[in-house]
Amino acid sequence: MTNIFKANDENILKAAEVILQGGLVAFPTETVYGLGANVYDSKAVVSIYEAKGRPSFNPLISHIAEIDFLKTYAAVDERVLSLAKHFWPGPLTFVLNRIEENPAIDLACAGLKTVTVRMPNHPVALELIKKSGVPIVAPSANKSQTISPTTALHVAESLGDKVDMILDGGKCKVGVESTIIDLTTRQVVLLRAGGIALEDLESFLGEKILISHGNPDLPSSPGQLLKHYAPTHEFRINATRRENGEFFIGFGDVEDCDLNLSSSGNLSEAAANLFAFMRIADADGRKIAMSPIPEKGLGLAINDRIRRAAYKKTRIMDN
Ligand code: TXA
Ligand code: MG
Repeated sequence: MTNIFKANDENILKAAEVILQGGLVAFPTETVYGLGANVYDSKAVVSIYEAKGRPSFNPLISHIAEIDFLKTYAAVDERVLSLAKHFWPGPLTFVLNRIEENPAIDLACAGLKTVTVRMPNHPVALELIKKSGVPIVAPSANKSQTISPTTALHVAESLGDKVDMILDGGKCKVGVESTIIDLTTRQVVLLRAGGIALEDLESFLGEKILISHGNPDLPSSPGQLLKHYAPTHEFRINATRRENGEFFIGFGDVEDCDLNLSSSGNLSEAAANLFAFMRIADADGRKIAMSPIPEKGLGLAINDRIRRAAYKKTRIMDN
C-alpha cells in the first residue's frame, strides 16, 4: 500500500502539513485508528463524511493535546477538569456545551450546541496534533457501519486512496473506541461504553452514571445505529459451542475454537483482539459464533459492539 507511512518524526511532520493543507490523515490512537482533519477547515471536514460514507448528522470527536485547549472550546467546570486530569490522555471522550460561536466548527459538531473532545493516549496522535497546532477531528478510520480499524492495513483496506496519508503506529493497544460521557447535565450520562470501564468512572466520581440506551432509529447520540459494527456474515453471540461448522471465536477456557479473544479470560486482552478477530472471521466466509463475554469492566464495551454486529439475528430472537 503506497499511502501507508511509518510514523517517524519526518512523516509525522509531513502528515501535519497535509492536515494544514486540508487533507485527510489516518493516525493511530490507543483505541482505534482515526481519520483526521483540521477542525477549522470545513471543506476537509466534509471530505471525512464523504470518505466514510457517513450520514452528515453524526458529530465528530475533536482530539486535543493539551487540557488548556478545552477552555477555548467548551464550558469547563471543576468536574470536567478533574476528570480530564485523571483520565487524560486516555480513552475517555466528553460531550460538553460549546462556548465559542465559531461557525467553522459547526460542521464537526453537526450543528449541535455541544462539542465532543478527547485527548488520546498515543505518542503519534499527540505529536501530530501538536505539530499541526490545531485540534484534529477524527471518527474511526473505516467506512460507516463497518468494523473499526486497529491496524494501518485495516484503514487501507477500508478507505484506500480516499485518505491522503496513513501513519502506521502498529496495533492499537485498547482496541475498542473511547468511552463517551455527556457532561452537560448534572448527572453524568454514559453515551457509549468503551476503553475506560464504567466502574472506574463511577468510583472516581463517587456517584452513579446514567446509562443512555437512546433510540436506534434516531441516531442523535453515539453509535446508536444498532447495526453499526457489522461483519458481512451471520454472527451469533453468547454461543457456548460451535454449531454447523461455524467460525468460533472463544473467550476464556474454551477448547474447540478457531481463535480465542483471551484464553486466560482477560477482558483488556479480549478488547484489543476483538475487531481484528472479527475481520479474520468475516474473511473466512463461514457463519460466525462467539462465546459469552462477562458484562463488567471492558466487557460492557465488547458486548455493546458485538450486540450491534449480531443485530439482525438477535432482533429476530428478541422480538
Ligand atoms: O476512540 C474513539 O473515540 C475513536 C478515536 C479515533 O478517537 N473515535 C471514534 O469516533 O470512535 P466515531 O466518530 O467513530 O464515534 C464517535 C461517536 C459517534 O457515534 C458520534 O455520533 C458520537 O460519538 N458523538 C460525537 N459527538 C457527539 C455529541 N456532541 N453528542 C452526541 N453524540 C456525539
Ligand atoms: Mg466509528
